[in-house]
Amino acid sequence: MSFTNFLALKMMPKKQFTSNDYLSFYFFSKIFAYFYPLNFKHSKNMSLAKKQYKRVTTNSLIEMKHNGEKISMLTAYDYTMAKIVDSAGIDVILVGDSASNVMAGHETTLPITLNEMIYHASAVVRASSRSLVVVDLPFGSYQSDPKEALRSAIRIMKESGGHAIKLEGGKEIKESIKRILNAGIPVMGHLGLTPQSIYKFGTYTVRAKEEAEAEKLIEDALLLEKLGCFSLVIEKVPAALAKRVADKLTIPVIGIGAGGGVDGQVLVTHDMVGMTHEFHPRFLRRYLNLFEDMSNAFKKYSKDVKSQDFPNEDEQY
Ligand code: KIV
Repeated sequence: MSFTNFLALKMMPKKQFTSNDYLSFYFFSKIFAYFYPLNFKHSKNMSLAKKQYKRVTTNSLIEMKHNGEKISMLTAYDYTMAKIVDSAGIDVILVGDSASNVMAGHETTLPITLNEMIYHASAVVRASSRSLVVVDLPFGSYQSDPKEALRSAIRIMKESGGHAIKLEGGKEIKESIKRILNAGIPVMGHLGLTPQSIYKFGTYTVRAKEEAEAEKLIEDALLLEKLGCFSLVIEKVPAALAKRVADKLTIPVIGIGAGGGVDGQVLVTHDMVGMTHEFHPRFLRRYLNLFEDMSNAFKKYSKDVKSQDFPNEDEQY
């Protein structure tokens, strides 16, 4: 039952309803819905939304930036999680190559393959009805030459049904980005800490603290916009630098560990709900502590099985 119908029902006098009552209830709820177009389905988001989107597109994100509405983005790698993220009204679902760490337990994002990314992305696409689904091109699928980059991007779009791809880097991969964009595939850039280059950086510490690296990041961001990318992720850089970039660009800049001056935020869902618990960078806000909650539930279940409390009379046929 919608919020408007619920309110209308509450405000009706309690009695045996006649067909006339039902008719007036119907008209009353329609009038109320007209003046109060808020729906509980996405209440948290919608109350701060400047505009409602049935389906978020790359253009919606650009519009959000221009309307001063911040963009929410979270990762998902499977159907069930993506269903929850999508129905909560998150604007963008990123099928990140962080699946390599979160789903497969690898130390870095490097080992995940294109086939594995397509598997994760197609499950997420099946679950999403509102969010824009962006899929990471994995390490090794676009760096060697532009033709290979396009082939990988086409496979993602064709085989997973994702709506856009994301790749890491600036000037060095300019030709690949051009070729993918020329094929009509929307591209999200990724600058700052780019985890696919972790062995070049050596550590996961904050990037672009020095002037030279900051200047290169700004140049790359401007280039990505000029090439036609629809948005850009900036990871783990000083907040002032990220804000400078967001202010310079007309396309939205989505930050992770990049402060509040950008146009949107992204987090890894498993981190923000506390399913992972060994990773606690300063930028991470944990909204739940699911590792502990789930662990307690599993312990209780084990105890119930061993004590033969489960299943009880009502839990069998
Ligand atoms: O792979 C990923 O999850 C990402 C985000 C951290 C931006 O790229």
